[in-house]
Amino acid sequence: MNRVTTSRPGAAAAAGRAPEAPLAYQSGFGNEFATESLAGALPVGQNSPQRAPYGLYAEQISGTAFTAPRAANRRVWTYRIRPGVMHEPFRIVGHGRIVSAFGDVATPPNQMRWDPLPLPDAPTDFVDGLVTMAGNGDPASMAGCAIHLYAANRSMTDRYFYDADGELLILPQHGRLRLLTELGRIDVEPQEIAVIPRGLRFRVELLDAAARGYVCENYGAQLKLPDLGVIGSNGLANPRDFLYPVAWCEDREGRFELVAKFLGNLWTAAIDHSPLDVVAWHGNYAPYKYDLKRFNTIGSISYDHPDPSIFLVLQSPSDTPGVDGIDFVIFPPRILAMEHTFRPPWFHRNVASEFMGLIEGVYDAKAEGFLPGGCSLHNCMTGHGPDADTFAKASTADLTQPTRIRDTMAFMFETRNPIRPTQYALESTQLQAEYHRCWQGLKREFDPTRR
Ligand SMILES: [Fe+2]
Repeated sequence: MNRVTTSRPGAAAAAGRAPEAPLAYQSGFGNEFATESLAGALPVGQNSPQRAPYGLYAEQISGTAFTAPRAANRRVWTYRIRPGVMHEPFRIVGHGRIVSAFGDVATPPNQMRWDPLPLPDAPTDFVDGLVTMAGNGDPASMAGCAIHLYAANRSMTDRYFYDADGELLILPQHGRLRLLTELGRIDVEPQEIAVIPRGLRFRVELLDAAARGYVCENYGAQLKLPDLGVIGSNGLANPRDFLYPVAWCEDREGRFELVAKFLGNLWTAAIDHSPLDVVAWHGNYAPYKYDLKRFNTIGSISYDHPDPSIFLVLQSPSDTPGVDGIDFVIFPPRILAMEHTFRPPWFHRNVASEFMGLIEGVYDAKAEGFLPGGCSLHNCMTGHGPDADTFAKASTADLTQPTRIRDTMAFMFETRNPIRPTQYALESTQLQAEYHRCWQGLKREFDPTRR
């Protein structure tokens, strides 16, 4: 049982002390958890007794429709020092570099690629450090997503954030983060992901001097593990590797700020206490983390190159069965053993749109130019594939030996709807104007006399 803490958040980091002992977690994707930071804080046998233990308030947070099927239903009961309603009224503060409407700028069908976002010089926290690169759909219709980058160099200490527009899939690329949420604390580092459910209040501390990474703000249905079909009962991301926090309470009073993202805008409200004051909770609507290195990668052991759906970690289903709003796919270290086969990803044009990022190493379809922290966009029916150097190498590779792809972690947000880059992304100095040239060296090889 972890103890209720009243220490000033971030004090250890600010004082330059060593980080605390590793945080505690409980495992199992979407499980029904019950956790308390003070023994006896969870009511027994019912959710809302006339008086909750220790003078706590009971508050339910629902992440799905009340009538959602049991397997998809997500809600959490919190037992807290003050209910979530206690704050001053919100006032709009604009949205800075965060974009939630994507129809304003014409979307080129070009292949696009960007260098990494520079780390900031001015003091910048996680929320201030967000910039939207692309997206589709809109928060009001609860469909689509925004794809953001973040670059930050200081912790959120006196302000808290929640996103009513979507669930946040966070992928650190540089620097570790501590996510302090209503339901407990999660440490996440490069090659891990964290997911913060829609509406959950949290703040972000940096565990290193600077942090950079990617965020997919999912306006649609919550991310879930895919069904495995003929793969069977094991494989891809295994449920027990998803880690959820234990209850942790920040009992703290002062002059703080609560920032909300709602219908595309940021709003601010004064709050005189930490909203992370949940002493105990039970339910299945909670943040989690997952170590991408634990992904059980599956692929061809005979010939040909499978579609990237074989690398699916999490999916946000749409209203059409089999067609996801968002597929979160990774390209982890793996062994390519296929014979008589062009082993890297082939040339292709898809109805789905693909936004890629690179956490570490080199992506096997590109010889150079796709850097850790960078990103690329190949939209609906835009041709793409291996660059000329990769094609030449893979076309003549010795296929009697397996290819071991080591020390890499690339990922893709593949969406049902076209992905529209923002004005920022289109005008960014990080945009590589010469990206298309990586294919221009592909030679005419056709010779009707030589099969
Ligand atoms: Fe692709």
